[in-house]
Amino acid sequence: MEPILQVQNLSISFTQYGRGARQVLLPVLRDLSLTIEPGQVVAVVGSSGSGKSLLAHGILNILPYNSHMAGEITFLGRPLTPKRAEQVRGREIVLVPQGVTYLDPLMKVGPQIRKGRRDQAARQVSRAVLERYGLGADTEECYPFELSGGMARRVLIATAAAETPRLVIADEPTPGLDARAAKRVLGHFRELADGGAGVLLITHDLELALSIAHRVAVFYAGETVEEADAADFTAGRLRHPYTKALWNALPQNGFVPILGAQPGPGEVGEGCPFAPRCPKGRPECLGPVPYREVDGGRVRCLYPEGGTA
Ligand SMILES: Nc1ncnc2c1ncn2[C@@H]1O[C@H](COP(=O)(O)OP(=O)(O)O)[C@@H](O)[C@H]1O
Ligand SMILES: [Mg+2]
Repeated sequence: MEPILQVQNLSISFTQYGRGARQVLLPVLRDLSLTIEPGQVVAVVGSSGSGKSLLAHGILNILPYNSHMAGEITFLGRPLTPKRAEQVRGREIVLVPQGVTYLDPLMKVGPQIRKGRRDQAARQVSRAVLERYGLGADTEECYPFELSGGMARRVLIATAAAETPRLVIADEPTPGLDARAAKRVLGHFRELADGGAGVLLITHDLELALSIAHRVAVFYAGETVEEADAADFTAGRLRHPYTKALWNALPQNGFVPILGAQPGPGEVGEGCPFAPRCPKGRPECLGPVPYREVDGGRVRCLYPEGGTA
């Protein structure tokens, strides 16, 4: 089957003005690759500022004007050009945004889900999706301020699901929710995948990601350092030292802290951005490090575990 989404060697940089109005290019995402198959939830896990939202905005072609994007994005086997991105945005590809503030505070829920359509069919769809997410028909008449945090999240998902999308991009969909509400919201994304859609779940929370994802792509300082099956985590089959460190930093795995800090945009050289913090780091890690297949996953490390160096 054809992948829903393929991102190959994606880079995003910003133009900034240095001293004396000199333009400098600030690279934020570098050489990023990712594949989502039909029915798959692929989680992108990375700490704050690692470029996760930019990836989502790059796919949708809604990056800020001072940005530059290079690389290839393929959607359902065809290049996702800016023109095509505009056509499929909000229909075949939907974004469930990071903040509930994306709901229009002055518009009732029903019309927001129907996107202005007033016909009987649109009304039926909006009722059906509200019911599907455990929201009563009276929710249609509510303004966003009348909703709890959990309800507002479900309204955002209902708005997305009403379009029967092929690709759902969820950008940090659970902040501010307690563990039970978060699990329920994530379950809804898993259902959309079970129905055949591809889901890109963006989060900083590895544990949460592993509770629903089939595959996990780990971001570090604007690069994918590893793509692994969710099962590789519990089976101890991780390849990159950063992924391992993330796993060991979870409370149930010993809470082992990762010393040092992630480099910011513009602070990264050619080599592995994790090298300065890596227990296995060597001088050659500061040179080019290719992204390659190891053991059914992919890794950007010269000395991965489970692979031949
Ligand atoms: N409009 C912009 N101009 C310059 N830099 C930006 C802009 N937007 C985002 N960035 C930079 O890109 C980095 C990644 O941002 P973002 O994708 O929002 O991170 P995440 O979602 O992983 O927290 C940030 O560290 C920020 O410095
Ligand atoms: Mg973000």
